[in-house]
Amino acid sequence: MEKKIFSGVQPTGNLHLGNYLGAIKNFVKLNNNKENKCVFCVVDLHAITVSQDPKELKNNIRETVATFIASGIDPKKSIIFNQSQVSAHSEAAWILSCIARMGWLNRMTQFKEKAGKDKEKASIGLYSYPILMAADILLYDSTHVPVGDDQKQHLELCRDIAQKFNNDFKVDDFFKVPEPLIQKEFSRIMSLKDGLKKMSKSELSDLSRINLTDDKDQIINKIKKAKTDPLPLPTTIDDLDKRPEAKNLIGIYASLTDSTLEKSIKEFSGKNFLEFKENLSQVLVDKIIPITVEIKKLLNEKKYLDTILLEGSKKADKIASEKVKKIHEIVGF
Ligand code: AMP
Ligand code: TRP
Repeated sequence: MEKKIFSGVQPTGNLHLGNYLGAIKNFVKLNNNKENKCVFCVVDLHAITVSQDPKELKNNIRETVATFIASGIDPKKSIIFNQSQVSAHSEAAWILSCIARMGWLNRMTQFKEKAGKDKEKASIGLYSYPILMAADILLYDSTHVPVGDDQKQHLELCRDIAQKFNNDFKVDDFFKVPEPLIQKEFSRIMSLKDGLKKMSKSELSDLSRINLTDDKDQIINKIKKAKTDPLPLPTTIDDLDKRPEAKNLIGIYASLTDSTLEKSIKEFSGKNFLEFKENLSQVLVDKIIPITVEIKKLLNEKKYLDTILLEGSKKADKIASEKVKKIHEIVGF
């Protein structure tokens, strides 16, 4: 069966190893499978749910496209575009916000985390963000959505919205109910400074993450300084569960070498962290630096990047505006 793939990444700068291993690496695999139709969206409308500097936003949009391409997504095979250029996303988001229920949104843990203690000061956009995400996905009749573990709850909400719309308007199967594609292992890469916290763009300390724009020395230095514990490397998976930092670093190694946690534990069992970290740095440099170099090269080719976005948005608009037309008919406009 042909799979229709959709995913989005926010252009908020500092794309990091978590984005790469949790999401983008998977996009590349899906893009390379001839049976898939893929749409990858730079979700700039989502980015402005928190305040953005307009100049930086523009650069970050290009940087996200450059990262997609440098990682191996082929713009000839997949549609790459930025969300703000296809007005159907905003239109559909409004209509779907009349379908989604407050009670559903009130359960979203990402909003609670991002809004922090002062919920009253969060933007309405930050609150309704998952509805826009549902619009993104549903407009393309997407069947599969590759994301990191942190987006699972938003995907469930998207499924609820699709089903409620289909039921309310008695249009069976109008919106396809999408499946999340979340990797079994390595779906959540943790901070290099705290094995219980997600690696994140917004973490203050740059030492907590490997950015996809870091150079070789930065990568080596960050791995050297990554938090560990005083014991030698574990010998079993059970051992690993009690040691979050070790688990994260071995997970990163396993994911980069297309291996499994189990095999990687065997490779390093009982060895000290110094030796393991040297191996990990080497693998990171081998895999990440070619991407970094390509991103930097592409960032000098602004016209090329802008053309990809323009061409992508034309193709996306064709699909999405057709779907919005049908939504209008169903709703009674
Ligand atoms: P964002 O940068 O928040 O738009 O996220 C883009 C993609 O990267 C989403 O699919 C996220 O689930 C994924 N992602 C972000 N941070 C991590 C992480 N620390 N580990 C795994 N996946 C992540
Ligand atoms: N909310 C996602 C994130 O922060 C980004 C996103 C927006 C997305 N729209 C999407 C992901 C549609 C998958 C499908 O990571």
